[in-house]
Amino acid sequence: MTAVGIDAIEIWTGKLMLDLPNTFAPVKGDDPEKYTKGLGLYASSFPDTYEDIVTMGANAAKQLMDRQDLKPTDIGRIDVATESAFDHSKPVSTYIAGCLEQVYEGDFRHANKGERKFACVAGTQSIDDAYNWIQAGRNRGRAALVIATDTALYARGDPGEATQGAGAVAMLIDEDPSVVELSTEQGYGSMDETDFLKPNQQFPSVDGKRSMQVYLARMREALEDFESVAWDTHPDDFAYIPFHTPFPGMVRKAGLLGFRHMIRDTEIEDELEGEIGRQPREPDFETREDYEAAIRDHMDDLKRTDRYRAWYDATIDPTLELSSTVGNWYTGSVHIARTSALRHAAETGVDLVGSKLLVGSYGSGAQAEIHAETVQDGWKDEIQGLNIDDQLDARYDLSWSEYELVHDVHEYDKETDIDVEEFTPPSEEFVFTGWGRMNERRYEYVE
Ligand code: CAA
Repeated sequence: MTAVGIDAIEIWTGKLMLDLPNTFAPVKGDDPEKYTKGLGLYASSFPDTYEDIVTMGANAAKQLMDRQDLKPTDIGRIDVATESAFDHSKPVSTYIAGCLEQVYEGDFRHANKGERKFACVAGTQSIDDAYNWIQAGRNRGRAALVIATDTALYARGDPGEATQGAGAVAMLIDEDPSVVELSTEQGYGSMDETDFLKPNQQFPSVDGKRSMQVYLARMREALEDFESVAWDTHPDDFAYIPFHTPFPGMVRKAGLLGFRHMIRDTEIEDELEGEIGRQPREPDFETREDYEAAIRDHMDDLKRTDRYRAWYDATIDPTLELSSTVGNWYTGSVHIARTSALRHAAETGVDLVGSKLLVGSYGSGAQAEIHAETVQDGWKDEIQGLNIDDQLDARYDLSWSEYELVHDVHEYDKETDIDVEEFTPPSEEFVFTGWGRMNERRYEYVE
């Protein structure tokens, strides 16, 4: 079977930032450590007044096309994953293609364009679609452009407000990829759930605590499903495990659950037996409640062991570095986690070629997907070419009143003047310029 996977990655962050411990926490009257230690978040990225899902997606895609020296006819498919779309009919990919056609010779006339929706898992689903299209031999030698782009804003005062974020990840999916090859094997955990949804509304209705339970339950099912078609996973099989990261604290919980699952009946469980005992087994308990209480106690003990801490620090923590300073990018979030891990490996001189990643995606509503990836020869060059650190350093640090203004500008139903002064001067990028006669959004490239 042909090797298919991610050949190139580019990231575009919203150009503003909200400092959570220093700006957000004092206004909310909270201890800053609720954010830094509890949720694991230091800052969130925000879109400037002229940015939206189209500009961020088009800017990430342009960076990718420039760095890979691609022309529009090299691309046979453009899929945009988003849960922030502003149009029920015309897909965001057409807007992004229109932007790119302003600056490149040629066009995307013969590319198949679409938009994928399943909350945050849609970015991974778009990669699946591209993978299947290439494996089916329908790509005519062309690559697929997958763009995950979101303005993950919550209503002001919602508990989710601390986990907001905005940015885009563009990925080129191709044969003989440079970054990672995707496994054919996949696992799913999917159920009709009412945990986080946007029924014809911009900001989500969220049952926050329940959404965390649903995330963990679906992720566990997806792992079991993956193992049923792949192999019984072991913690040492993977260099990194990037998870969908609504906030790092969520991934701390997922990592612990995954570790407990993977070590059952292994030499690691034997090794830890003297220290914390063996994992509780359900048949040994009279009621489900007793079993669950015993599992909770065991997990508390497990997370304090050196064996777990060392694994977590090496395998999970590096996936969270970017998320902790950009917040939740919904569809882009798991792809930020993968990039964060690879960036960490490049910075610390880890040789990853041939190593495996286990990637856990999740979308509310709800579905988790798990697959493995094998790191390819060109990963380091690709990752070292990213300019994400420069972008993060250049973000404008919002005061509280500026944050409120920007939030209002991006609220569709609020009458705000789109000429509200921008915070950062746009340069060599696509910007939103206003609405056309059919209420379409309009964009132009600023030199
Ligand atoms: N020092 C250290 N830690 C502290 C602290 C302090 N001073 N104060 C609180 N904490 C800890 C809490 O103990 C808690 O940690 P644990 O869960 O490990 O106990 C953590 O900080 C958060 O505190 P709260 O639970 O009190 O926070 P909250 O209720 O205000 O909000 C939330 C948490 C419900 C997750 C909220 O942020 C939310 O609704 N977020 C949006 C929904 C979401 O992201 N869900 C995740 C799963 S769904 C998904 O993944 C899809 C998606 O992208 C949306």
